[in-house]
Amino acid sequence: MEIQIDKPRSPEDWRAIRELCGRTAEEGRGIEAARWPFFSEFWVGPYEKLLPEWTYAAREGPIVIGYLTGCPDTPRFERKRLLLHRWPLFVKALLGFYPRNEDTRRFIRRFLGLEKTLESRFPRQDRLRLLSIYPAHLHVNVDAALRGRGVGQKLMGAFIEDLRKAGVPGAHLVCGERPVGFYKRLRFDVLIRVETPPAGVLYVMGRSL
Ligand SMILES: CC(C)(COP(=O)(O)OP(=O)(O)OC[C@H]1O[C@@H](n2cnc3c(N)ncnc32)[C@H](O)[C@@H]1OP(=O)(O)O)[C@@H](O)C(=O)NCCC(=O)NCCS
Repeated sequence: MEIQIDKPRSPEDWRAIRELCGRTAEEGRGIEAARWPFFSEFWVGPYEKLLPEWTYAAREGPIVIGYLTGCPDTPRFERKRLLLHRWPLFVKALLGFYPRNEDTRRFIRRFLGLEKTLESRFPRQDRLRLLSIYPAHLHVNVDAALRGRGVGQKLMGAFIEDLRKAGVPGAHLVCGERPVGFYKRLRFDVLIRVETPPAGVLYVMGRSL
């Protein structure tokens, strides 16, 4: 069956994207279903709430088999996300709205500045420079059973085309070791490599458009 790329249209589409987020988390290995509600709210919630028009769904027939959440202007998105998503999520996590687990505890520690985030490891000037060259960012995930069939490439193609139309000069992303080859194939370069023990290594990759 042919693969279609379009925008999420309904609450069911967003539910499917959130489920896929849980099933493809941690470099595609997936996480246990008990972690999905908070995890997907953290990763998908801000895009659904703040700029749904920059999320893409890949469908085979009616089934969502992959998605890309993106944004053309990361600094603007981060400001809105802090106010309209992270603060409310912090309150909900504190009040026990989500089952307590390591995800919620890490989020609370980081929100309070008690634990370093990836961003906080970089000098502010370096980060601002990177964001001025590659202001857009993205996350892309494909159902494990359907990888290697060009779905990820199609999602990236749709996003990059829209970024170009909007006059955005570049895009960046953060990933682990496994998908680096995929992004290189799509002409992203490794900009920064960060050791993040015990989890491993993270890469910041970017591409001018
Ligand atoms: C990374 C991911 C999105 C790629 O999607 P995909 O649909 O499997 O990739 P495609 O089939 O579109 O691959 C496009 C090209 O990249 C290559 N490629 C894909 N994954 C690759 C990898 N991990 N390493 C090297 N090359 C890779 C493909 O061989 C293909 O090359 P070709 O055009 O020469 O045939 C998908 O594998 C995935 O969801 N992985 C788990 C979650 C994840 O890591 N997401 C990224 C989070 S930052």
